[in-house]
Amino acid sequence: MKWLERNDKCWCGSGLKAKKCNCGIETKLAQMAAKGYMIPDKSLLKSEETIEGMRASGKVTSMILDEVAALIKPDVSTEEINTFVHNRTLEMGGVPAPLNYHGFPKSTCTSINEVICHGIPSPDRFLKEGDIINVDVTTILNGYYSDASRMYFVGEVSESAKRLVEKTKECLEIGLSVVKPLATTNEIGIAIENYALQNGYSVVEDFGGHGLGKVFHEDPFVFHFDTGEPGMILLPGMTFTIEPMINEGEFDCKVLSDNWTAVTLDGKLSAQWEYTLVVTADGAEIIAK
Ligand code: MF3
Ligand code: CO
Ligand code: CO
Repeated sequence: MKWLERNDKCWCGSGLKAKKCNCGIETKLAQMAAKGYMIPDKSLLKSEETIEGMRASGKVTSMILDEVAALIKPDVSTEEINTFVHNRTLEMGGVPAPLNYHGFPKSTCTSINEVICHGIPSPDRFLKEGDIINVDVTTILNGYYSDASRMYFVGEVSESAKRLVEKTKECLEIGLSVVKPLATTNEIGIAIENYALQNGYSVVEDFGGHGLGKVFHEDPFVFHFDTGEPGMILLPGMTFTIEPMINEGEFDCKVLSDNWTAVTLDGKLSAQWEYTLVVTADGAEIIAK
C-alpha cells in the first residue's frame, strides 16, 4: 500500500513513523482488502489543516443548535427556526449548506414527529405542545463543512416520545464508541441496529451517515444497520457523520410529493441525532454535535 508514506504517522495509532512501526498495518489492510473490505481513498484522510477548518465550522454548527433550543415552543413556525439558523450562520461568517443543495429550498431541515428527515421549514407549520422535532444544521465555514442535528421537545411530550428520543441518542453514542482505526463502517451499523432492536425500535435504511470535509456528502456511506457487507475500513483523518434515524414502528418510509420530506409509512414517530467526527489514533473526536 504505497499511500502510507514512510514518514507519515502510522495508522495503527502507535505515534511512530510508519517506517519505524512494526505493527504490520499494511499487511492487515491488504488482508482485509482481500476479504472485500473497502480501503478508503487517500483523499479521504484529511490533513490537520482541513480538520482544523472543520473544527471551526463545527463550533458554529453546535452553537446554533444550542441557541435553537430557546426557540422551541408552541406556536413557533418552522420558518422562524429556518430564519434564525440562516441569519446566525451568516453572522458567524458561514454559509448554510442546505440552501439550494440539489434544489433544497431552505437553510435547515426541520423534521417533526413522523417526519424522518429533510422536513422543509414552512410559515404554515407551527410547533404544538407534545411535538418532537429534529433540527439539522450544516455549516460551510471558509469552505469546510460540519453537519449535526438534535431533537427538541415542544413543551411536555409523552413518556414514549421521550424514550424514543433518548434511545436514539444512545444509538448514536454506541455507534460512535465503535469508531477507531481499522474498525469498519458496517461495525457501526451493527452496533446501532442491535441497540435499536433491543429497545423495540427499527432503523431507517433509506438514509445514512456520510463523509464530508470540503463537500457536503462523500465517502464513506455509513449505514446504521447490518448490511451484511464488509463496508469501508476506518483510518485516522477520515471525517464523517453518524446520524441514525430510529422509528417507533416499522422502518419503512416514503418521500412526500415535495420530493424531500421523508416520513414513516405507518405514521409513527421517528427520531434522529447527528454528529460530525474525525477518526483519531485511538478512537474518534467529535467535530460537531
Ligand atoms: N443535513 C442532512 C444530512 O445530515 C442533509 C440535508 S440535505 C438538504 O446529511 F438538502 F436537505 F439540506
Ligand atoms: Co449528515
Ligand atoms: Co445533517
